[in-house]
Amino acid sequence: MSETVYLNGSFLPLEQATIPVLDRGFIFGDGVYEVVPVYSGQPFRLDEHLARLANSLEAIRIRNPLSLAEWQGVINRLVHTNDHFSDQSVYIQITRGVAPRNQAFPPSSVAPTVFIMSMPLDTPTQALVQSGVSAITALDIRWQRCNIKAISLLANVLLRQEAVDHGVAETLMLRDGYLTEGSSSNILIVEQGKLLAPPKNEHMLPGITYDVVLELAEANGIAYSVEPISESRLRAADEVWLTSSTKEVLAIVSLDNAVVGTGKPGPLLKRMYALYQEFKKQVMRRQVPHHGQ
Ligand code: PDD
Repeated sequence: MSETVYLNGSFLPLEQATIPVLDRGFIFGDGVYEVVPVYSGQPFRLDEHLARLANSLEAIRIRNPLSLAEWQGVINRLVHTNDHFSDQSVYIQITRGVAPRNQAFPPSSVAPTVFIMSMPLDTPTQALVQSGVSAITALDIRWQRCNIKAISLLANVLLRQEAVDHGVAETLMLRDGYLTEGSSSNILIVEQGKLLAPPKNEHMLPGITYDVVLELAEANGIAYSVEPISESRLRAADEVWLTSSTKEVLAIVSLDNAVVGTGKPGPLLKRMYALYQEFKKQVMRRQVPHHGQ
């Protein structure tokens, strides 16, 4: 079945969705994006993702092309059009539009390009949740505005490929001796039963999953603290966790070939994984089911 996508106000088959080569996303990577997980047809934390999208747009001075209600409407329609995938990952991208190549902004009459597609959401398998994954570290070579979810991802692409070249799942980045995040995930650690999360700043993306995990810690009496995590604390941690909309919460059990903790997902990760799955179910139950489901 051909996948339906949204492009500049129209719903159309993926194969028919094309943009001019002078789109500033293509020429400069001049745009922002979001990835929203959808479980059983229900977008998860949609308003939070749309708020972060609005922040990213504001930060790069693109006017938000749709109202909150319009975003919700378009995304829900796309999700239900593509409901042959049970769980979906909705990708939203906005660029500064099509204009002759010039670094400076085009005239304000140039409309942003808005593209949304839905892909199957492949959350980690039970085997992966139980085994955990390996990771490497690298210097954080990115720019100083990592809190913007920008489509210009060259550094992340190179860093992720380093992980692939080493046969591991993720590259954890270090800046000035401190953990920032993964190439496409946030990273938290556990030290003597306490969960530690690096503070949100311009060196990391404010993760929606990171927020959910800290909220679940708060609601369930799990001790946690938001504080800078030095490289030595990262390497000595009892547990290292990766969070993202597509990977949820996953254990990193090996870092640069050294075993993390016992080399298996730790007790707090297992507890948080269960809380996260339960939270997802509760959120889904709270939604009004789509007709026919
Ligand atoms: N990536 N940090 C970076 C650099 C990311 O790219 C992502 C997400 C995260 C986690 O954020 P969230 O919990 O809101 O998904 C942190 C998405 C999934 C991607 O680029 O595909």
